[in-house]
Amino acid sequence: MATVYLNGEYTSADHAKVSVFDRGFLFGDGVYEVIPVYEGRCFELEGHLGRLQRSLEGVRITNPQTNAEWSAIIQTLIDQNGGGDQSVYLQVTRGVAPRDHLFPANTTPSVFVMSNPMQLIPDAFKLQGIKCITLPDIRWQRCDIKAITLLANSLLKQQAHEQGAQEALLIKDGHLTEGAASNAYIVKNDVIYTPPKSSELLPGITRDVVLSLAKRAGIELHQQLITEAELHDADEIWISSSTREVLPVTVLDDHPVASGQPGPVWQALIALYQQLKQEQNLG
Ligand SMILES: Cc1ncc(COP(=O)(O)O)c(C=O)c1O
Repeated sequence: MATVYLNGEYTSADHAKVSVFDRGFLFGDGVYEVIPVYEGRCFELEGHLGRLQRSLEGVRITNPQTNAEWSAIIQTLIDQNGGGDQSVYLQVTRGVAPRDHLFPANTTPSVFVMSNPMQLIPDAFKLQGIKCITLPDIRWQRCDIKAITLLANSLLKQQAHEQGAQEALLIKDGHLTEGAASNAYIVKNDVIYTPPKSSELLPGITRDVVLSLAKRAGIELHQQLITEAELHDADEIWISSSTREVLPVTVLDDHPVASGQPGPVWQALIALYQQLKQEQNLG
């Protein structure tokens, strides 16, 4: 049984218990991060801890750990669970208190961290690309906060799955926001476009990596709104997330995206992504 970290203690996953009065359980009142681990070390840890801080500020929970403490907890857990490629999940909730919408006074946040073996990205997703469907973005208006309240995302992802797709691309007021669990991009005439950071989407850490890799390689990239028509007319479509890296979308709403094959700009970008991991001795 894997080791997890709960409120100051490392313990076996089947012994870790939280109160039914935890506000994470009663209200979904908390935030989280997912951090990829390659060869026993975190990828882009600083970015993830920075976003955690912003999410906590967004929901007015004081960060219960310093970044040095977070790093130590996370690394201990990775080591105790055997190193290698893992994904670390951490969450902070407002803590345990009698049920009341109002914030409790003086409650200690609950901290939970687990790490699991990284799920391999199927080769077929990279060789042939993935299928996506478009769905209306039914989520709340603070999608920039990585909140544990993921019911809408879960409903959307489930609907995509039931229609044979690996992701739902979300449409709000006629434009693309992001995927149900990923950021989204299109390529048109060798230029990459991705929606700008706003309260409509999560500021993805992988998205930051894509932006810096494109800049380094001199590939033109614009952060601007993408209309539904532009999405359907794209030469390439991609999604990105910490656990799926960057994947090409080759079928959208049952129609091939351009040639229906992963495109050349994605091929260039993913090679740079793997190179970056190697530069950091992570893969
Ligand atoms: C809604 C949403 N957008 C974007 C992302 C990508 O973020 P990151 O690259 O930091 O994993 C995720 C990741 O799970 C997500 O859930």
